[in-house]
Amino acid sequence: MNILLLGKTGQVGFELDRTLSPLGTVNAPDRGTLDLMNEKAVANYLASAKPDVIVNAAAWTAVDAAEDHQADAERLNASLPKQLASYAAANNARLVHYSSDYVYPGDGNQAWLETSGTGPLSVYGSTKLEGDQAIEQSGADYLIFRTSWVYSARGNNFMKTMLRLAKSKFELKIVADQMGAPTPARLIAQVTTLAIHGNLAKGLYHLAPRGETSWHGLAQEVFHLAQENGEQLAMGPENAHPIPTSDYPTPATRPLNSRMDVSKLEQTLNIRLPDWQSQLDQTLSEYLEQQ
Ligand SMILES: NC(=O)c1ccc[n+]([C@@H]2O[C@H](COP(=O)([O-])OP(=O)(O)OC[C@H]3O[C@@H](n4cnc5c(N)ncnc54)[C@H](OP(=O)(O)O)[C@@H]3O)[C@@H](O)[C@H]2O)c1
Repeated sequence: MNILLLGKTGQVGFELDRTLSPLGTVNAPDRGTLDLMNEKAVANYLASAKPDVIVNAAAWTAVDAAEDHQADAERLNASLPKQLASYAAANNARLVHYSSDYVYPGDGNQAWLETSGTGPLSVYGSTKLEGDQAIEQSGADYLIFRTSWVYSARGNNFMKTMLRLAKSKFELKIVADQMGAPTPARLIAQVTTLAIHGNLAKGLYHLAPRGETSWHGLAQEVFHLAQENGEQLAMGPENAHPIPTSDYPTPATRPLNSRMDVSKLEQTLNIRLPDWQSQLDQTLSEYLEQQ
């Protein structure tokens, strides 16, 4: 199997570069080799690489910056997936792509289903939704995994930011009314690999660990696990104070309800997704071992 992996330097791409390797030849150009902003360069690269499977882990992921860089976010999150899907449709290839909980409107407290109505609140969310819709309408064989709150032992993410802050701050105020499931990049890569290997039926799937928490709950668990691992922190879980989103204004609006029902993926792929706490424990331990 000839696999083209885009975004190999990102959180998810880094893990995919490792988990995909038993499936075939993984060709993973970095930004220096292929600038994904350049449509012509992407077309030329596809024509010469001739992939059987394209795994697109590249995206514009800077949610707040997207508000002021709409055209760039649009290219990376909407027109690139459209271009990849149109290549896949014309060349009998499979496209694997990642989407976001930020395509949902964030109201209520029920977990979203893949069939739920969308209603993005930000440029990032809108451009991700455009990408999903372009893929769905392309006629290509595709898998879209909608995931949430991605973190890993590498890259910039909430877990690492919280750990860094807890070493110098005595107290932190953290948003407690946005609910979702923190998803390790490695879990996304592992499930993607199973899905490609198992020829998972074309479609859109939610991919996140089981359970739910808030950013505040996640931070408390980070502090708790870090202390259990012997980390010297200036503060503990009890010094993390819950605040509403309205007390932490950001350029882009975030959904309050990012809960996603993962039963479609579990049933179709015949797997059981782990809970978010055990995944955090593993990822945090891995990060601390690297220090
Ligand atoms: N992060 C989250 O919380 C989150 C939540 C829900 C869904 N998702 C989705 O999950 C997927 C993976 O996210 P992630 O967190 O792994 O992303 P990430 O760490 O931000 O990585 C993005 C990747 O895209 C590459 N890229 C960006 N612009 C490029 C360009 N012009 N040319 C070539 N490469 C370019 C980056 O390369 P450089 O290293 O060179 O910049 C990097 O490899 C994305 O589809 C994202 O929308 C993420």
